Amino acid sequence: MSITLDSPLDMHLHLRDENMLSTVAPLSAKTFSGAIIMPNLVPPISTKDELLAYKSRILEATKGHTFKPYMTLFFKPTYTKEFLESVRDELTAIKLYPAGITTNSEGGVAGFDVEELRPTLTAMSELDIPLCVHGETNGFVMDREAEFVSIYEMLATNFPKLKIIMEHITTKESVEALDKFENLYATITLHHLLITLDDVAGGMLQPHLFCKPIAKRPQDREALRRVAFKAHPKVMFGSDSAPHPQHAKESCGCAAGVFTAPIAIQVLTELFTQYSTIENLQAFLSGNAQNIYSNIEIPKKTIVLEKEAFLVPNKYGDVVPIYAGETIKYSIIERKEI
Ligand code: NCD
Ligand code: ZN
Ligand code: ZN
Repeated sequence: MSITLDSPLDMHLHLRDENMLSTVAPLSAKTFSGAIIMPNLVPPISTKDELLAYKSRILEATKGHTFKPYMTLFFKPTYTKEFLESVRDELTAIKLYPAGITTNSEGGVAGFDVEELRPTLTAMSELDIPLCVHGETNGFVMDREAEFVSIYEMLATNFPKLKIIMEHITTKESVEALDKFENLYATITLHHLLITLDDVAGGMLQPHLFCKPIAKRPQDREALRRVAFKAHPKVMFGSDSAPHPQHAKESCGCAAGVFTAPIAIQVLTELFTQYSTIENLQAFLSGNAQNIYSNIEIPKKTIVLEKEAFLVPNKYGDVVPIYAGETIKYSIIERKEI
């Protein structure tokens, strides 16, 4: 039996730049209708010119595909309302990183002083610009996300009209926060639905499964699965596909990030089928995001999958994907772009 999905969206994607961009961008663009593009380049995207130039490099790299890059800026508390108004039409969201918490986040926010953040966050909420957040403190690695929930609560209560997206959630505490605050939403990755810390470090260390936030406990994965499989209206798919060259992953000082973009939809289809919730995949993969990011334009694209073995390549360019060299159960057999 074939499975048809319309206009899949990836609401958290790293496309990088230069050669890496040319390698990875087409892999997302041929399958997804659009994606929220993370701004953590070196230096991060923080001006209108940088944003527009990056957008045109992405469009060039994805030529021939119907694909919308939804652009973001790297949050700075110095952004004024005038600046945000001037860039509003080019921008889908702003991404906030705590300083130094993940790849290329050194220029992020330190301290979370609400008064320091207030002018920019107030302007964002007036202009209806969603705030995407990498929610981790710099505490003990397994507790970082749960500790950050109090910062989400502080943001959600101080800025009740601001849409706040808890990016790549990994814990039951974040899942619980969703239902406590009207203006909190979340993205969930494929890998956090699949793995726990055991898969990363329980046996031989698996650098290609190492990412931020680190995969957590079985009960956390269970909480994520519960809301993803029923397509809870406040959660949406965001792959957090984060490519690094093989030498940066298989080295002393492994870079954080799992590369999932080329096989994300196939494996999601397998997972949702396995848990008898395939009827909810369309909402998780597109419908919920359309409701949450209410004013984005979504290109029409249809993909058809069949239960047909697919051998995952060992590498795409210089990047090792999840399931490299393994066979997954579903294949994309047709793509219709309009
Ligand atoms: C991301 C990256 O490599 O840019 N890495 C990751 O482990 N998720 C950054 C991020 O999303 O935190
Ligand atoms: Zn992140
Ligand atoms: Zn990310």
